[in-house]
Amino acid sequence: MKNLIRELVESYGPSGFETDVTDKIIDLIKDYVDDFYVDTLGNLIAHKKGNGKTVMFSAHTDEIGVVITHIDKNGFLRFDRVGGLNTLTLLGNRVRFANGVIGVIGREKGTLKDFAIDKMFIDIGAESREQAKEQVSIGDFAVFHREFTDLGNRVVAKSMDDRIGCVVLIEAIRKLNKTNHDLYFVFSTQEEVGLRGARTAAYGIEPDLGIALDVTMTGDTPEAPRMDVSLGNGAAIKVKDSSLIAHPKVKELLIRLAEEKKIDYQLEVLPAGGTDAGAIHLTKEGVPSGTISIPCRYVHTVSEMVDVRDVKNCIDLVLAVIQDQLDEF
Ligand code: CO
Ligand code: ZN
Repeated sequence: MKNLIRELVESYGPSGFETDVTDKIIDLIKDYVDDFYVDTLGNLIAHKKGNGKTVMFSAHTDEIGVVITHIDKNGFLRFDRVGGLNTLTLLGNRVRFANGVIGVIGREKGTLKDFAIDKMFIDIGAESREQAKEQVSIGDFAVFHREFTDLGNRVVAKSMDDRIGCVVLIEAIRKLNKTNHDLYFVFSTQEEVGLRGARTAAYGIEPDLGIALDVTMTGDTPEAPRMDVSLGNGAAIKVKDSSLIAHPKVKELLIRLAEEKKIDYQLEVLPAGGTDAGAIHLTKEGVPSGTISIPCRYVHTVSEMVDVRDVKNCIDLVLAVIQDQLDEF
């Protein structure tokens, strides 16, 4: 599984430009599903046919990044956020463009308080605007450039948010042999800029039940925000975040299955942030929805850390949902 994680996290997929990721996922799952298609917004939707409930699982393929807004006469690039970047985490980090060009993030003089994004710039080693323009253009997107690191039970990389959710779904698809239900596995686009891909995917699928797979923050580091989720304590079953109050039937289903199958789990109350379930549950007349979260430290930095035991718990929980009768939906 670590090789699969590495392959996905080292891919290039800022919001709106996820094809590198979706192409890889197609290769990984195509022999295990009945059909798959890529819709208008770029969502990869894999289908496993059945006569039971229509269940939509969703994990997003996009990652946070930057977009170039200006190139100055000395060849320095100004940029804006794509998704929720904390500028305190940027200085000295590197970004990578679709064409492989690498840049270093620097900033103007200023105090520690003064970390506004318009005081920062990207240096791609160009010595003039003309030289810079040979390599990048206004409107080009870049992602963080950082390799996968294996620390044993814990693994670290950029874009664990949400490639690790994609890994959970890929592994579930490959382990799944038979289903009574009509299953849609959505590898959604543009989550980081407002849950956009999942919105149109859910509209097309009209699920009886929606479950997002995404990372959540933890409260287990020194002086961390008070949050009752820890790395290594199991799959996190979401109670709420700012996009969703988990439907009671979904939350109770996940808790019941975790108890029955003896899958380690913890309850997650996330003060801010959202997942694809925030879009899915508001589709048409409403869809009972919830989220299975993978606990993750340092979310939205270049070093997002997850525990592979939690990832396995999440895979088991997805498989438990698929195997259940789901009579209440
Ligand atoms: Co995110
Ligand atoms: Zn995410």
